[in-house]
Amino acid sequence: MVADSIRRRIAADGPMPFEVFQESALYGEGGFFASGPVRSSATGDFLTSPEVSPWFGRSIGRYLSGTRIDRLVEVGAGSGSLLRALLEELGEIDAWAVEASPMARDRLRSVIAPNQVVASLDAVPGPFTGALIANELIDNLPVALAVRTGGGWSEHFVGVVGDELAFVTVPARGAVADWAERYGGEVPVDGIVEVQLAAAAWLRRAMAMLQQGVILLIDYGGTVEELEPRRNIGTLRTYRGHHLGPDPLLEPGETDITVDVNFTALLSVAEEAGSRAQLHRQDDFLIATGLRTVVSELRQQELELARAGDTIGQLAVKDERINAETLLHPRGLGDFRVLEIEVQR
Ligand SMILES: C[S@@+](CC[C@H](N)C(=O)[O-])C[C@H]1O[C@@H](n2cnc3c(N)ncnc32)[C@H](O)[C@@H]1O
Repeated sequence: MVADSIRRRIAADGPMPFEVFQESALYGEGGFFASGPVRSSATGDFLTSPEVSPWFGRSIGRYLSGTRIDRLVEVGAGSGSLLRALLEELGEIDAWAVEASPMARDRLRSVIAPNQVVASLDAVPGPFTGALIANELIDNLPVALAVRTGGGWSEHFVGVVGDELAFVTVPARGAVADWAERYGGEVPVDGIVEVQLAAAAWLRRAMAMLQQGVILLIDYGGTVEELEPRRNIGTLRTYRGHHLGPDPLLEPGETDITVDVNFTALLSVAEEAGSRAQLHRQDDFLIATGLRTVVSELRQQELELARAGDTIGQLAVKDERINAETLLHPRGLGDFRVLEIEVQR
C-alpha cells in the first residue's frame, strides 16, 4: 500500500515535502494514476472536457488547422479522447502521446501508432514544429505547501503523528518561500499557497521541445488575483468516483490530488522565455473556433429530425448538442482557462 511505503520513508528519513508525498500518492507504485482503471472516463473518477464531448477536440483541431503542424504532442493524454477528436479534424499527422499512467498508455496504443505512446516528454523527438497540448495535466503536477506566518513563510511537510500521516510545520525552503512571495498574492496569516515549481519546470521543458508552434494548456485555476479569495484554506483537494474525496493524507493512492493552476506563474515562465502568451476562458476560446455555430447547427438538425418523426435520431443529436454546450457552461467547464503560448525561435 502507498501509505505503508510513505510511512517507511518517513520513519527512515523524517517528514517529507508535500510534493514528494503527492508524487508517490499519484505516480509511485500503487499510486492513483499507476493503478486501477483509466481515471478520466465516465466509469472513472472525473469527467474532463474531451470525455464530455468530441467537440472539445474538434474545436481545438479547427483552431490548429491554419497552422503548420509537423508533429502533434498531447501530454497526460488519458484515454485518448482528445487525440482521437483532434486527428478527426487534422487528418493523418505525426501524433505522439505522453502519459505517466501505464493503463492509459495501453488505451492510447489503440488510438495512435503504439511506438508513439511514451511515458516521458524526453522520449518525443524534438525540437519540432507543431503543437503541444495538455488538458488537466498541470493541476496534477506535485506542489509544495507554503503557509503564511507573521513574518514570512513556513511549509507543510508530511510526517507521522501517533500512527497517522499528518502535516508538520517546518521553516519554508528558500525556493518555496520565494515562489509563494511572488505568486501567492495577498495571503492572510495561516493562509496556504500551493507552490507550483514543478509546473514551471515542466513548462520550461515543454517550451524547449518546440522549434516553432503553439502550446495549449487547459485547466482549472486562474490568475493570482482570481485565486486570492481562496488563500484562507488553499485550493488543495481530492477527487474520487466523480466526487470530492477525503483529506489528501487519509488515503494516499486511492484519490486524485489536485490544485487550482496559478496561471500568472505560467504566464511569467512563457514571457521570461520570450514567448507571446495569452490567457483565455475556455468558453471564449471555444466560441472563437466556431462552437456556438456548431451548437446552432445541431439544434437545427434536431428540429429537422423531429419534423421527420425520427425520434431516435433527434435524441442522439440532442445529446450531442447538450454535451457540446456543457463545454461552454460559464460556471463549469467554460470557466476553465486556456493558456496559449506561441513559441518562435
Ligand atoms: C486529470 S488526467 C487528464 C487526462 C486527459 N488529459 C483528459 O483530459 O481526460 C491527468 C493525466 O495526466 C497524466 N500525467 C500526470 N503527470 C504526467 C506527466 N508528467 N507526464 C505525462 N502524463 C502525466 C496522468 O497519468 C493522467 O492520466
